[in-house]
Amino acid sequence: MNPADYRSFADDWERRATIRTRPRRVLENDHKLIYPLSRQPLVLSATFVDQCPQCRDFVLLQTFYKFINDVVIFETEIVDKTARSIAKNRFSVPFPLACRYDAMTVVVDEDYHALVALDFMQQAVEMTGIPALELPGQIELSRALPAALALAPAHLRDAVELIAVAIAENTVTHDVAAFSKDDSVKQSIRGLMADHLFDEGRHAVFWTRLVRLYWQSANAEDRDCIARILPVFLQHYLTHDLQRNFDLQLIEHLDISTRTRSALRAEVQAMDFPITRQHPLLGNILGFLNHSALLQTPSVVQALDAFLPASGAHP
Ligand SMILES: [Fe+2]
Ligand SMILES: [Fe+2]
Repeated sequence: MNPADYRSFADDWERRATIRTRPRRVLENDHKLIYPLSRQPLVLSATFVDQCPQCRDFVLLQTFYKFINDVVIFETEIVDKTARSIAKNRFSVPFPLACRYDAMTVVVDEDYHALVALDFMQQAVEMTGIPALELPGQIELSRALPAALALAPAHLRDAVELIAVAIAENTVTHDVAAFSKDDSVKQSIRGLMADHLFDEGRHAVFWTRLVRLYWQSANAEDRDCIARILPVFLQHYLTHDLQRNFDLQLIEHLDISTRTRSALRAEVQAMDFPITRQHPLLGNILGFLNHSALLQTPSVVQALDAFLPASGAHP
């Protein structure tokens, strides 16, 4: 791989990384929400609004804790691991030194995001006096990544990991955006999300550049093999199961009547986010596949047929 093909963003990181530029944020004890209603459909369901609106803040708080927990798992167990092995030149795909340096800035950013997330968890527990219920030990990627790796021959495992992390790093931006713009949410939480989003914009470009470099150097056989793995990864990654299980468990902890509880359970069971072309995260993912040049490979287009716009026109 030619080092001249890689353009570093080290200067940009020095000037703008939130770890370099942002003060600590303090959670306000005001009447605004700790988590956006739009990100927890349970509290918007007809039964909930009708029968137990007094449980709203508890549900939002617990959902906020889950979000924090998911961020920590994502940053420290997934992105940190991949970025760190690139930085330390342990990746089977060799990258230029400038690229390894940038990967180390990603490690620093992600560990910092996990630290800030835990800071907010601690502040929220202190302010409300309500600890988190049992939190999931896994996020969707904790299953999607091993499922994809299990299908990859040994020499392609690192490449598949790279592409999977790059996909995830290109969707987190979309995920986080909802917080920073919602005026009903506490200012410090919106600030936390805006900071995170700011760093993730840089990361999305970094991972896309890396995958692009890799894809240019990969041979046709390897590309076709990875193409066949992509839909399996996406099926696992886009599943709603973990959130549904969390919501069902949360309902068990509400102080409500048996009738209301079973009605809420039914509402959650009925919430379906099918993995179709309309899935909300697919727009970002297809944008990534396009910019990294994966979608210029016919076998990728063919393998992802069920996810691509029906017209065959790519974003
Ligand atoms: Fe992050
Ligand atoms: Fe990131």
